[in-house]
Amino acid sequence: MNGVANISLAAESRTGRIAFIDLAAQQRRIRPAIERRLQAVLDHGRYVAGPEIEELEEQLVARTGAAGAVACASGTAALIIPLFALGVDTGDAVFIPSFTYNATANAVLVTGATPVFVDVDPATFNLDPEDLRKKVAEVRSAGELTPRAVIPVDMFGAPADYAAIAAIAAEEGLSILSDAAQSFGGTLGNRMVGNLAPATGTSFFPGKALGAYGDAGAVFTQDVRNLEEWTSIRWHGTDSERKTSVRVGFNGRMDTFQAAVLLEKLAIFDDELAVRRDIAKTYDARLSSFARPQQHLPETQSGCAYYSLCVDNRDEVVARLNEKGVPTAIYYTTPLHKMPAFAEFAPAEPLAATERLAKEIFALPMHPYLTPDQVDYICTIVEAAAT
Ligand SMILES: Cc1ncc(COP(=O)(O)O)c(C=O)c1O
Repeated sequence: MNGVANISLAAESRTGRIAFIDLAAQQRRIRPAIERRLQAVLDHGRYVAGPEIEELEEQLVARTGAAGAVACASGTAALIIPLFALGVDTGDAVFIPSFTYNATANAVLVTGATPVFVDVDPATFNLDPEDLRKKVAEVRSAGELTPRAVIPVDMFGAPADYAAIAAIAAEEGLSILSDAAQSFGGTLGNRMVGNLAPATGTSFFPGKALGAYGDAGAVFTQDVRNLEEWTSIRWHGTDSERKTSVRVGFNGRMDTFQAAVLLEKLAIFDDELAVRRDIAKTYDARLSSFARPQQHLPETQSGCAYYSLCVDNRDEVVARLNEKGVPTAIYYTTPLHKMPAFAEFAPAEPLAATERLAKEIFALPMHPYLTPDQVDYICTIVEAAAT
């Protein structure tokens, strides 16, 4: 009998049902406050551009230390808005990891620019600065595209290597747009995600660490002079009276109801983040000797949206966890350069670290309502199943 089968039924009943992300438990905690907020929106009736939008933007600025924040429709809109403002266009190369969600590539393609896929670091799962340098040189020597921007993605919540990327971007004349869809709450030194790059887009998709009850996002700037243009792009490129289009834009607005929900979730965010970080610490301590959890750069703290790790026998470990009632997810089984929509942009050489990660990575439950017993139960199963 193997170790997994030995885990007793007593252990299973001790843990109760384990959720991958437990939005229901969070809602039980703050439901009356959310209902009051939603009621207020029903009462004032400003379903678009209600006062909650500005209130949220102010709180996001206060929390992140960014110079400004623009609430918007989604994490994808939060990437498209600054790319439009930068004037990224056909003939431009935008460097992105292939190990990311498809939205990063779609945002580039919407502008007409070409995504150039860069490998990730096998330990941090984030953009590899050395490969970025190599890919920029390749684009320059091919002479067809103009290197224009880089979008580091803070995978699973962990800030990318902004110091190294900023140095390369300065040498190569690239703009930096941080894809922080997963990393709200993360830090680098004493600076918060939202203030680690000139422009940062985040997502408030319901499953994110700070999630709305629908689609929502925000874009952060380190320079208040961007705000006018970004808010205009968010509203079809109109002027301040919202009548005449002065540039190309789209409907990138956040609904007032989502801002109302987010305000209440923001009020408990730090408390939830502290629990997420404790759980990540326990996972690291229990699993690092036989599995390969995501590594973090010195002086960074993850926003801990997700907890991912690698093992040699991933499919077996996942099957064991699932059999034992532990839900798992795999981000990402297919790197973007292998997906039909983006295959034409695949590099000539394989992206070795990315392709290996796709075979070995999986994610464990991560949310602030996991109990210590549940975390212990999950670790015990991984311990027994991993080789
Ligand atoms: C890395 C990354 N970028 C962008 C997005 C897009 O966010 P949204 O779904 O809010 O548009 C996501 C969403 O999951 C993401 O994980």
